[in-house]
Amino acid sequence: MKEDFLSKLDDGQLKAVTSTNSRILCLAGAGSGKTRVLTTRIFYLIQKFKIRPENILAITFTKAAAREMLLRLSLLGTDIKDLWCRTFHSACYRILREVSNKKEISQNFKVADQITQDKIMKQCIADLQKNRDFAYNLNSFIEENNWTLDLFFEETYKLIKECKSRFISLDDLVEKAKKVRDDEAREFLRLVYLIFKSYQERLKKLNIFDFSDLMNRVIFLLENDKSVSGHYQKRFEFILVDEFQDVNLSQVRLLELLCSAKNNLFVVGDDWQSIYGFRGGDVHHILDFKKVYPDCESIILPYNYRSDGNIVNAASRVIKNNSRQMRKKIKAFHPANGKINIVRAEDKARGDSFVTDTIKKLVLKGIKQKDIMILGRTWRVIDVFLKNLPKLGLKEVRITTVHGAKGQEAKVVFIAGLYKGRGGFPHIKDDYEITREIRETNRNERLEEERRIFYVAMTRAKERLFLITEKDNQSMFVREVSRRYVREINC
Ligand SMILES: Nc1ncnc2c1ncn2[C@@H]1O[C@H](COP(=O)(O)OP(=O)(O)OP(=O)(O)O)[C@@H](O)[C@H]1O
Ligand SMILES: [Mg+2]
Repeated sequence: MKEDFLSKLDDGQLKAVTSTNSRILCLAGAGSGKTRVLTTRIFYLIQKFKIRPENILAITFTKAAAREMLLRLSLLGTDIKDLWCRTFHSACYRILREVSNKKEISQNFKVADQITQDKIMKQCIADLQKNRDFAYNLNSFIEENNWTLDLFFEETYKLIKECKSRFISLDDLVEKAKKVRDDEAREFLRLVYLIFKSYQERLKKLNIFDFSDLMNRVIFLLENDKSVSGHYQKRFEFILVDEFQDVNLSQVRLLELLCSAKNNLFVVGDDWQSIYGFRGGDVHHILDFKKVYPDCESIILPYNYRSDGNIVNAASRVIKNNSRQMRKKIKAFHPANGKINIVRAEDKARGDSFVTDTIKKLVLKGIKQKDIMILGRTWRVIDVFLKNLPKLGLKEVRITTVHGAKGQEAKVVFIAGLYKGRGGFPHIKDDYEITREIRETNRNERLEEERRIFYVAMTRAKERLFLITEKDNQSMFVREVSRRYVREINC
């Protein structure tokens, strides 16, 4: 055991780790040590209060984050065998297996991963298209609105997921359709309804849960069987949640059901980094935490320990352009050593070459490949690096979308594809009129979410940040990075 683990914390962090309050909210900026605090608190509970690891449930959003957290704990010297450090989905999966086992419910169910879910939904659409009316309606809808089949699929999928995370049933969808004013939006809902119905029937026939159904099934069991909820409330004395700004309604419901008055609930998050609105994530859950738990202790962590001072200051200024946010004062722990590089390329190809050439140079200088990260708003922007870097003998494991980089950090970060318009960043399609009415968000809210995604991207960088844009096609976000923190490069 490392004796000095508490001495590495600042005052706010120490308070968050050691507080005995049973409801704690730690709302703090990027790189302020939220994940570090959460991990250290688990270690502290085990060491100081002799809490058994099996009585702790730690929830994170990605498998990578769960693995990272377990690694950090094992380095601190914790026996992690019985500790549950899981994503929401993986926790629900385990619970459902355990409950099925105990209650002698059939164990035959399978859980569909993302690829299988896509496949099943595509099969449903293909089958429905065998019906002449459906095929005609779908084709007319796509043509009249100038959509592609891909876009239709993407939007349908998103809507179905969102319905599930907000407990909107097929019947509710019909009711919703009645209230929608726009003809095209109503037609879209009618098509989605048929696909949703067929998708559910198919899942049932195959005895498969998708991620959302898995979660909703566990919620159902906890709501309706006191022996199940009692068991898990007793077991998970301590519940800790990372990235709480991105929880959706069903995730919050799950936590409520696991958390009786006796349980200890500790959540950390940053409203400025809420980036899952499209999946039903709702920043209000973190902002309203104090309303739901009036006795909760609120802890602020003011320092950013991750990034160079220029990066911290520039990113904080960018996010100030959003109207919906908690005002937070973020102080950079590190001084301003280097400027942010804005790379203005003649065209996309030159921008891409700049990135590969610079990476080659950095690696020659001794920077490890694992310390370099390439981020894009969408996979399309960064695909080229997945293809080209291996040809140069570079294994750049860390090429990802911004959503995939959540919670992570790297010494050097490239944000590619900072263009305006289609395929760029902000990534807002113009042909959203229809889904906009259905999903009740307006363009400005979407733009603010895009800005938060940009903020997340910037704040991954520890030392050096490169923003790759095109000379005559510059993203509005590049212009929001104040010139005083910037070095300009033309290529
Ligand atoms: N007290 C501290 N002293 C030195 N370094 C620290 C301290 N607290 C955190 N760090 C370091 O700062 C970096 C950011 O910490 P961490 O990842 O926990 O922040 P976070 O708030 O979870 O960030 P994000 O909002 O991106 O998830 C890590 O490298 C961490 O080791
Ligand atoms: Mg974190």
